[in-house]
Amino acid sequence: MVQHTATSVVTIERFIIEQERLHPEATGELSGILYDMGLAAKMIANKVRRAGLADILGATEHSNVQGEIQQKLDIFANDTIVKAMDHGGRLCAMASEEEPGIIPIPDNFRTGKYCLMFDPLDGSSNIDVNVPVGTIFSVMQKITRGRHGELEDLLQPGRRQVAAGYVIYGSSTMLVYTTGQGVHGFTLDPSIGEFLLSHPNIRIPDEGRYLSVNDSYEGLWDEGTKQLMRKYRGLEGGRRPLSVRYVGSLVADFHRNLLGGGIFCYPANRKAPGGKLRLLYEANPLAFICEQAGGAACDGVTRVLDIQPTELHQRVPLYIGSRRDVDLATQTFQHHSELVGA
Ligand code: AHG
Ligand code: MN
Ligand code: MN
Repeated sequence: MVQHTATSVVTIERFIIEQERLHPEATGELSGILYDMGLAAKMIANKVRRAGLADILGATEHSNVQGEIQQKLDIFANDTIVKAMDHGGRLCAMASEEEPGIIPIPDNFRTGKYCLMFDPLDGSSNIDVNVPVGTIFSVMQKITRGRHGELEDLLQPGRRQVAAGYVIYGSSTMLVYTTGQGVHGFTLDPSIGEFLLSHPNIRIPDEGRYLSVNDSYEGLWDEGTKQLMRKYRGLEGGRRPLSVRYVGSLVADFHRNLLGGGIFCYPANRKAPGGKLRLLYEANPLAFICEQAGGAACDGVTRVLDIQPTELHQRVPLYIGSRRDVDLATQTFQHHSELVGA
C-alpha cells in the first residue's frame, strides 16, 4: 500500500470556499473580496520586505530620505489595494485612511453590494527600524439603492460589518480574518506564495498577560485613565500586574494580545480628546475580530461596534483585548463619571 506522508494543507482559497459552502445563499462575492485582499497582501509583503534595500538598490528611483520611503510605502500599499479591488464587480465604494474622501469604483467597471474600508499600512513609521507593520480592512454591505456607494453606506456602525481582517508583515506574513464565524489565521508560505491555515478558530484568553499603552501621555490623561492604568499595573485594586508591551504598530500589539491575552489602550488625552485611532479603518475591524475571538472593545463607555460614525476619518479612544480587562476599563470610567456627576 502507498504511504502518503504529506500532511493536509489548507490554503486560504480552499478554506474560504469551504466556509462559503456552509451558506447556500452565499453568492461568492464576499469570498472574492477576501481572496483579492490576500493577493494585495502578498504584493505589499513583497515590497515591505525590500524596504531596507531601497537605499542600496533603488537609490536612483527612490529617495534616500527615510520619511519619504515610508510615505511611498503607504501610498504603494494604498494603490495596491485599490487596484486589486476596484474591478472585481463586488464593491460599490472604498475608503482609506490615506485618502480624504470616498474612493469610487471607476465607471467602466461593474459595481457590487459591498464597501471596503482600510488602513493600507498601519505603523508605517516603524518601517525604518524593521518593526512589524500591517494592513487592516473592514467590509460592509451597501444600504443605499444607487449603483455607487455613498457616505451613508460607509458610515454604518461596526456591528454591521460582514467581514474584517488584518495582515501582519512580521517575521512571517499572516492574514487573520473573520466573517462572523470565528477568527482564522493564515501564514504566508513564501516558497509557494500561498496563505496556509495555521491558526484555526483563534480564542483570546479572558484575562490578559499584557498591557499595551503609550504612557508618555500620562500627563495628559484624566484621573479615570490614570487610575485604570494603576489597576492594570497592579498598583491599585489588588489585581495581578500586567506586563507592558508596546510596539507602536497597532496591528502588532493587537496580534500579540489576541494570541497571548492582553489589552491595548489608546486613551483620549488633553491634546487628543478623541484619541488617535480611526474608527472605520482601525477600531471597528479589530473590534469585530476581537469579539469574534471572545474578547471585547470599547471607547471607555460604549462598545466600539455600537458607535454610530459621523465622518470617514473619525477618531475614537480604544480599549481592546481580553474581555475582563476591557470590562475593567468600562467599570472604572463609569465609576469616575458617577463621581464627577455627583
Ligand atoms: P498609522 O501608521 O496607520 O498612522 O497608525 C499608527 C498608529 C498605530 O499603529 C499605533 O498603535 C499608534 O499609531 C501609535 O501612536 P503613538 O506613537 O502616539 O503611541
Ligand atoms: Mn494605523
Ligand atoms: Mn496607516
